[in-house]
Amino acid sequence: MSEKNLRKSILFLLLEAFPGGVSGERVASLSGVSRVAIWKTIQELKAQGFPVAASRTGYRLLTIPDSFDPDFLEPYLAQEVQGIRVVYEEEVDSTNTRLKTLAEAGAPEGTLCIAERQTRGRGRRGRSWFSLPGKSLAFSLLLRPGLPLEVCPSLALLAGIALSKALEDLGFSPGLKWPNDVLLGERKVAGILLETATDLDEVPWMVLGVGVNVNLEENELSSLPFSATSLQVEKGEPVLRVLVLRHFLVYFFKDYREWKQSGDFSPWIAEYNCRFAFLGKSATISGGKEPVSGIVRGVDARGALRLEKDGEEIALAWGEIA
Ligand code: BTN
Repeated sequence: MSEKNLRKSILFLLLEAFPGGVSGERVASLSGVSRVAIWKTIQELKAQGFPVAASRTGYRLLTIPDSFDPDFLEPYLAQEVQGIRVVYEEEVDSTNTRLKTLAEAGAPEGTLCIAERQTRGRGRRGRSWFSLPGKSLAFSLLLRPGLPLEVCPSLALLAGIALSKALEDLGFSPGLKWPNDVLLGERKVAGILLETATDLDEVPWMVLGVGVNVNLEENELSSLPFSATSLQVEKGEPVLRVLVLRHFLVYFFKDYREWKQSGDFSPWIAEYNCRFAFLGKSATISGGKEPVSGIVRGVDARGALRLEKDGEEIALAWGEIA
């Protein structure tokens, strides 16, 4: 077995046994592996920051590491999500841009591109997206729903719901700002950027980019041009990025499989509206030719915003709440 495969197999066994341990015998039963090679790999994993404890009986992970290393992340995600293939980049311009290139080259649905550092992270409407290595969660997911372009925008709303549910599991009470910002209180904690290949009737690929401020500190958020917060700021302690990712993927894929049948967003209208931070409130929608103001009445079966304006209801498919 190559060194690379041994490392992968040991991480897999450690994860499988977590929070328990794996016996030295079990590790040694990996074909053609010497005790020296195992010892060396364990030392390397420790040096790389994996919290592995060795005892007379075997090896154990002390905690789940907050690592994007694909040898760890892929099996960690696979415990609950099927069909994920992890492409990890220490540094990349933007995970969305990178994944678009992979999509054009034929990468399959379920490819996840994740990076520690983005040098040109992108937000909606040409804005930039700020993230910090070790503290932010920035990833993109490749999807090939095989649906027409007009139904695709609602997928971003679906992702907003999945992210909200993931954060709820971790004890937060998020709200949604149409179309898909995730808020804690009135401050933005996460953003979603959905990009699609356009020129065909049936969209060949979509790249869903998600950025979450996980462990950024107050002073690191203060220079942003909008009011932002992080999970750590709200909770008062660090949060595992990989846990946020795993919970998100579980919820997202469950809904995505159903949504993909037709692209109809109706089954999620209530789930969206119950988290919609602007429901019943006055809001201004920007992004069209001119800003439009009215009272927010929720979203419709396409994920469009229902706005009451001068006593009449209109539906806005594009734009964002300012
Ligand atoms: C927004 O709220 O404006 C959307 C932000 C989306 C940011 C994420 S981070 C991962 C992925 N790669 C990017 O360049 N952007 C998205």
